[in-house]
Amino acid sequence: MVVRPVRRADLDHVIAIDTLVTGIEKRQYWQRVYKRYGVASKGEQRWFLVALAEKRVVGFLIGEVRDWEFGSPPCGWVFAIDVDPQARQSGIGARLLAALTTELQRTGVRKLRTLLSHENTLILSFFRSQGMMAAPLIPLEMDVAP
Ligand SMILES: CC(C)(COP(=O)(O)OP(=O)(O)OC[C@H]1O[C@@H](n2cnc3c(N)ncnc32)[C@H](O)[C@@H]1OP(=O)(O)O)[C@@H](O)C(=O)NCCC(=O)NCCS
Repeated sequence: MVVRPVRRADLDHVIAIDTLVTGIEKRQYWQRVYKRYGVASKGEQRWFLVALAEKRVVGFLIGEVRDWEFGSPPCGWVFAIDVDPQARQSGIGARLLAALTTELQRTGVRKLRTLLSHENTLILSFFRSQGMMAAPLIPLEMDVAP
C-alpha cells in the first residue's frame, strides 16, 4: 500500500468512495476541496492524501494546520477520513493517519484534533485506537434560520 498526495486523476475515485460512504454525491464540493487542499497545498500545511492498494484508490484523508484559532497554538486537524468499505480493517485508515502525523511532526506541530458525531461509533473506535482522547473543548451550535 502507498500513501501519497492526491492527484487530479484520483478525484473520481475519491468522489466514488465518499458517495458510497455518505450516500450523497458532492462533485462540486470535491472540486473545491481539491483546489484548496490538493493543488494549492505545497508548503501550506494542508494535506489531501490518498491510499492506493494495487494502484487503486482505497482511502483518503484531508487535514491541515490551523494557527491560533479557538484560542489554541498551531494545531493539526483531520476533518475527513474515509476508506473504501471493501478495503477496511486492513490498516489503511491507520496508515493515512500516520502519514498526517508524520507531516505534522515535520512542521513542529504537537497536537492533532478532530470532531466527530456522537452517533458515529465506528470513527470514534478508530480514532481512540490511534490514541486520540477527549479534548478540553466544547463544540457549540445554534440555529440561525430567520
Ligand atoms: C474509520 C475508518 C477510516 C477506519 O479505516 P480502516 O482502514 O478500516 O481502519 P484500520 O484497519 O486502520 O483500523 C485501525 C483500528 O481502528 C479500529 N477499527 C477499525 N474498524 C473498526 C470497526 N469496524 N469496529 C471497531 N473498531 C474498528 C480498530 O481498533 C483497528 O485496529 P485493529 O485492526 O488492531 O483492531 C473506516 O472505517 C471508514 O472510512 N469509516 C467511515 C468513516 C466516516 O464515517 N467518515 C466520516 C467522518 S470523517
